[in-house]
Amino acid sequence: MDLKTKAIDDLLQHAWKAQVAGHLDEAAAIYQQALARQETAPAWLGLGQCHLERRDPDAALNAFQRALALLPESGAIRHMVDMLEGKRVPDRAPDDYVVWVFDGHAESFDAHLASLNYRGPQMIAHLAEQAWEKDRSRTILDLGCGTGLNAPLFRAYAKQLDGVDLAPRMLQQAGRRGGYDHLYKAEAHAFLHRPPCRYDAVLATDVFIYIGQLENIFSFSDQYLNKDGELLCTIELAHGSQPVELRPSGRFRQADAYIRTLAANTGFAVAATYDEPLRIEAGVPEAGRAYRLVRTHARL
Ligand SMILES: C[S@@+](CC[C@H](N)C(=O)[O-])C[C@H]1O[C@@H](n2cnc3c(N)ncnc32)[C@H](O)[C@@H]1O
Repeated sequence: MDLKTKAIDDLLQHAWKAQVAGHLDEAAAIYQQALARQETAPAWLGLGQCHLERRDPDAALNAFQRALALLPESGAIRHMVDMLEGKRVPDRAPDDYVVWVFDGHAESFDAHLASLNYRGPQMIAHLAEQAWEKDRSRTILDLGCGTGLNAPLFRAYAKQLDGVDLAPRMLQQAGRRGGYDHLYKAEAHAFLHRPPCRYDAVLATDVFIYIGQLENIFSFSDQYLNKDGELLCTIELAHGSQPVELRPSGRFRQADAYIRTLAANTGFAVAATYDEPLRIEAGVPEAGRAYRLVRTHARL
């Protein structure tokens, strides 16, 4: 690595640390310094994220467009541009976007979520408590398990608890936390299409915010769920006219009617729901809904 590249690399690391610590003005200034030395996609990306977090979507879009011009093959940057332009709603966040977002934050993820009062695991645990015995009788899959926040809440129900996630560093954190029998690095659809076994229950907390269109996940269920198997999941609740919305945050929201129609069409009954703010975002509670869906076999 030559001296100029090293100096830019050091600046980017410095900016990233400031950004993760929430010092967005400082981080943006360092990204600008790096860009003054050389225009690189990571510097434009970092600056775009700072603008996004400072709620300046126009400046963010400009920065992501500059990054895309330098790295046109990147699905991650394309996703950022798409969501801000609002022209195209993809079915789900691209794999490289998910890995980029989560591997970059894996070590600070739990502390960050605690500071946002994140409630996804507790919401589905509440639904499980009302219906399940803690008899360690179930095979359970934690889809998009992240750092493994579901494991301590669901281990008492499971004779086998497996986790699957796209982001390797999130899986490392889940491994450190413990509680899982197997951890798999895979994309959710690919895994559910050819699972290593059928499960009694699948948990999906705060993962459908990255998988907007859920048709395939729901309709593969006879491949990954046992008879009477259950899907316990959370969504960010959409209130507009669209069944699925892509938000400037890069995350999706689904409407309740979308989930209910999809469930009915793919052989699930809605056994219970539970509402709570999923997390606090920029001081505002994010409306969340948890579902307990039970396979009925009466696929239409
Ligand atoms: C917001 S985190 C939630 C993690 C965990 N379920 C929890 O409640 O703390 C979303 C997780 O889903 C994973 N993810 C997103 N899209 C995915 C996909 N298509 N396939 C597999 N994992 C995915 C991410 O890597 C990330 O770890």
